[in-house]
Amino acid sequence: METIDMLKEQDLKGKDLLKLADFSIENINALVELAYDMKQNKEAYADSLKGQLLGMIFEKSSTRTRVSFEAAMIQLGGQGMFLSSNDTQLGRGETIEDTGKVLSGYLDGIMIRTHSHSRIEALAEAASIPVINGLTDLYHPCQALADLLTVYEIKGEFKGNKMVYVGDGNNVAHSLMIASVMVGMDFTLTAPKGYEPASEVVEIAKEIAKQTGAKVELTEDPKAAVKGADFIYTDVWTSMGQEEEAAERLKAFGPYQVNEDLMVLANPECKFMHCLPAHRGEEVSAGVMDGEASVVFQEAENRLHAQKAVLYSLMKK
Ligand code: CP
Ligand code: NVA
Repeated sequence: METIDMLKEQDLKGKDLLKLADFSIENINALVELAYDMKQNKEAYADSLKGQLLGMIFEKSSTRTRVSFEAAMIQLGGQGMFLSSNDTQLGRGETIEDTGKVLSGYLDGIMIRTHSHSRIEALAEAASIPVINGLTDLYHPCQALADLLTVYEIKGEFKGNKMVYVGDGNNVAHSLMIASVMVGMDFTLTAPKGYEPASEVVEIAKEIAKQTGAKVELTEDPKAAVKGADFIYTDVWTSMGQEEEAAERLKAFGPYQVNEDLMVLANPECKFMHCLPAHRGEEVSAGVMDGEASVVFQEAENRLHAQKAVLYSLMKK
C-alpha cells in the first residue's frame, strides 16, 4: 500500500475538481486514503493551508456543502468566505468569467455550487486558482468522494461490493456512478423511463469500468436491481431548479421508494445511503432513513474529511 507521504505528493496541486473523471483512478483512490488519514489524524494537518482563503460561491441553497467546506478550511488553518450570488454582483449580471478573474487576485481557491456544468467550466477557464465543484446540474463530485470514504470505512475495500442507486439519474447519481467504477465497485442504477442518467456519463463510466473490472448496469426494475446490493443509495426526486416538475416526478418515482420491502431484497448487511437532504415518505421511508442500516449521518460527516483531502491536494503550497 502507498504511504500517506506518497499520497500527499500526488500531482493535483493547482488543478480544478470539476468532475471525478478528470482525475486518474490512482488519484481517486489516493484521495480516499488521504481523507481516511485526515479523519484519524486531524491534528497532523492543522496548519497545512495556513493563511489560505477559499471563496465559496453559492447560486443554490446548501447546508452540508457550505458548512463542511468552511469548517474544513478553518481546520486546515485557512478560511472559507461565503459568497451568495444574491449579495454579490453575480446576482446583478456580472459574468462568471469576470468574477473568476477578479477573485483570483484575492483568493487561493474557489468552490462553487451552480446550475449548468458549462458555467463552472467557464469559471475554471477564467480563474487562475483551483476551482472546486460543490454541485452542478450534472455532477456532485465532493459528495461522491465522501460516499467512497464511507464505503471504505464500512468494508475496508471497494472491489467485490455492489452499489445500487435507486431513483433519479441526476447529478448525485452521475458522480456516484463514476466514483464507483473508478474504485472497481459494481454499480447498478434503477430509474423510471425518462429519468435515466445522461448517456454521455454512462459511456464515460463504461469506459472506466473496462479498466477497473467493475460492472455497470441500468434497469427499470428496482426489485431486480437491489439483488445482491451491499449499498442502496437514493436522492431526492426533485432536485434544486426542478420545482415546477415536482408533482409529475412524485407520480413517476412512486414505485422507486427505498423502503423496508425493497431493503429486504438486498444482501443482509446492506447499508442505506443518501446524500441528504432527505424527504421521508418520498424517496425513502422513515423506517429505512432512521433504521439500523442507515449510514447517512456518517456519510454527511465524511463530506468534511473528503473535502479536506481535496483542499489539501489542490491548494497546499
Ligand atoms: N448533500 C449536499 O450537498 O447537501 P447540501 O445541499 O446541504 O450542501
Ligand atoms: N440532486 C440534489 C442534490 C442536493 C444535494 C439537487 O441537485 O438538488
